[in-house]
Amino acid sequence: MKYTIALLAGDGIGPEVINEAVKVSDAIAKKFNHEINWTPALTGACAIDAVGVPYPDETHEICMAADAVLFGAIGHPKYDNDPSAPVRPEQGLLLMRKKLGLFANVRPTFTFPSLIDNSPLKRERIEGTDLVFLRELTGGIYFGEKGRLDGGETAFDTCTYTRAEVQRLAKKGFELAMTRTKKLCCVDKANVLETSRLWRETVQAMEKDYPEVTVSYEFVDAVAMRLVQWPNSYDVLITENLFGDILTDEASVISGSMGLMPSASVGEHTSLYEPIHGSYPQATGLNIANPLATILSAAMMFEDAFGLHEEAATIRAAVNKSLEKGIVTEDLAAKGATAYKTSDVGDWLVANL
Ligand code: IPM
Ligand code: MN
Repeated sequence: MKYTIALLAGDGIGPEVINEAVKVSDAIAKKFNHEINWTPALTGACAIDAVGVPYPDETHEICMAADAVLFGAIGHPKYDNDPSAPVRPEQGLLLMRKKLGLFANVRPTFTFPSLIDNSPLKRERIEGTDLVFLRELTGGIYFGEKGRLDGGETAFDTCTYTRAEVQRLAKKGFELAMTRTKKLCCVDKANVLETSRLWRETVQAMEKDYPEVTVSYEFVDAVAMRLVQWPNSYDVLITENLFGDILTDEASVISGSMGLMPSASVGEHTSLYEPIHGSYPQATGLNIANPLATILSAAMMFEDAFGLHEEAATIRAAVNKSLEKGIVTEDLAAKGATAYKTSDVGDWLVANL
């Protein structure tokens, strides 16, 4: 088959990790007789530098026309310490999510047998963890009305959800739960927030359509605690935008490195695949960043966007093998062992698919 993939490398280590994912994807395409047509496009700080906006219309058109989007990272420290910057790279990501209608962010957290001891959490707590967050991605406080009052002395951000927004996300959660252990946890703050009460009420009303799914309702503060205490007790978790942002960073600790966790954002138009780590400015250009989260995101793309299960499994098997053999970047290298470069890991995977 022929696939067109929009390639949004973005900022920081984005181009380096994307490079390795392209190498591995091309090798998989060759092995299984597919043809990939990569269409690079600008987003983030590099787009601001080049054309003044973080998600140019041309990039949007390229994404809309593609079969999938593979995305690296965006962000640049020069904006982080300047709250007055009129345009910020992150706005590009938010605009892209909104314009592509990417309302569901799928973030799996799992452990790799050979890396259990890399996690700061005890082996007996995390062994066997296999959970998936479905984070709502185009609503909530990220997109609500915001502003300043009192000549700048007061600031506000508002969180709004419609029933329809909750329903479409929850539907994906129920459907995903049906393909797994049929356990769904709705994470909210219904003891305090009105939007959370709408979430809870909406999900409760949907339960009758999925009689086989056992649904639990838990407050976000309690989930933050239980997630690192008993990650094994969770399977599919659905939650609103900001709670999901925070909890998925927390969950990545279980796997041992943020450099390992892939994600997919799906919704109305082209789906997007990206590592959950950010642009890691300190490592930019050093060829030391872990490319595995991006390579595993490419595997998710082969599986979910193209329905190519064997191709995805082949990538995952090679990744597992590289981890077992210690062909890893410095974030995962054992004490005293050689750390491989970003590009070495990609080369090894290509040679061992
Ligand atoms: C993420 C990131 C983004 C978010 C930032 C970069 C806007 O942290 O994808 O989780 O908050 O959604
Ligand atoms: Mn985040």
